[in-house]
Amino acid sequence: MTYPRIFITRIIPDKGLALVKENYPHLDIWPDEMPPSRDELLQRARGVDGLLCLLTERIDAELMDAAGSQLKVISSMSVGVDHIDVTAATARGIPIGNTPGVLTDATADMAFALLFAVARRVVEGEKYVRDGKWKTWHPQLLLGKDFVGATLGIVGFGRIGSAVAKRAQGFDLRVLFHDPSAKAAYGAQPVDLDTLLQESDFVSVHVPLTSETRHLVNAGFLVKMKSNAILVNTSRGGVVDQSALYDALRAQTIFAAALDVTDPEPLPMDSTLLELDNCLIVPHLGSASHHTRDMMSYLAAENLVAGLKGERLPNCVNPEVYSRPRKGIGAL
Ligand code: GLV
Repeated sequence: MTYPRIFITRIIPDKGLALVKENYPHLDIWPDEMPPSRDELLQRARGVDGLLCLLTERIDAELMDAAGSQLKVISSMSVGVDHIDVTAATARGIPIGNTPGVLTDATADMAFALLFAVARRVVEGEKYVRDGKWKTWHPQLLLGKDFVGATLGIVGFGRIGSAVAKRAQGFDLRVLFHDPSAKAAYGAQPVDLDTLLQESDFVSVHVPLTSETRHLVNAGFLVKMKSNAILVNTSRGGVVDQSALYDALRAQTIFAAALDVTDPEPLPMDSTLLELDNCLIVPHLGSASHHTRDMMSYLAAENLVAGLKGERLPNCVNPEVYSRPRKGIGAL
């Protein structure tokens, strides 16, 4: 009996792993906490039929060619696929799976957690206590921003952006959004980007990283924001020009920023952003809840298994592979 060869680039939660093992007990799994190096990835991918990766791996044409023309499926345990060269996979007839939907709520919760933490100076307050500075209740101590009556601007109104709008209703926020391809929901009002930036007290970014959205948040974007505004990014680090953000935060032309994502990740310890008190940074935790990660691993496993069986992936990023004949590498 011959089994397909599978490489999984990290130990994923049991819920997904069990599903893969139930179908294919023979697996190669990268056992370390750190991702495989590029050389190791190229080597371990050689000859595999199915690859299950995370957003930490760069899956490009070189990797696909190193794997070989038998590669049937690439399944990523992530909703974002900016680490994968989708065009190269499509040209090779390889379906790519991702994990949409199951992380929407957790990521929207994180956007709010960051917004609250910055607006109400939670992290500064915690540090103040630990540093032994808490001597009395003072009328002017660590004053932040109110939510009721404030305006929240959501850039990118897909699943996660609209889940943020849904939560905003409970806090009596006025909600604007900018996304020419989305319909209004949860009382959010569609506006052009300039209006959103000029009127919002809080701006939360929810766009995928593409060539069009790279450095969408640049000096020109930041200068249009209110001087008391807060920027929240839970999408991808590359959407923000970090050097422009540093300048804006340092000059206090905006009040603060909260970032769940940076470019690169991890953020180097000598990043100037780490010098700022008005910039909160957490290590890409948007989907980091037990249930969400279980479900992400399950969806990733479902995609992998379907691809290996020659079935359509339940969540496929490039469904056009099903309407085109599969090409061999030599035909590229
Ligand atoms: C997380 O950032 C994801 O894309 O799943």
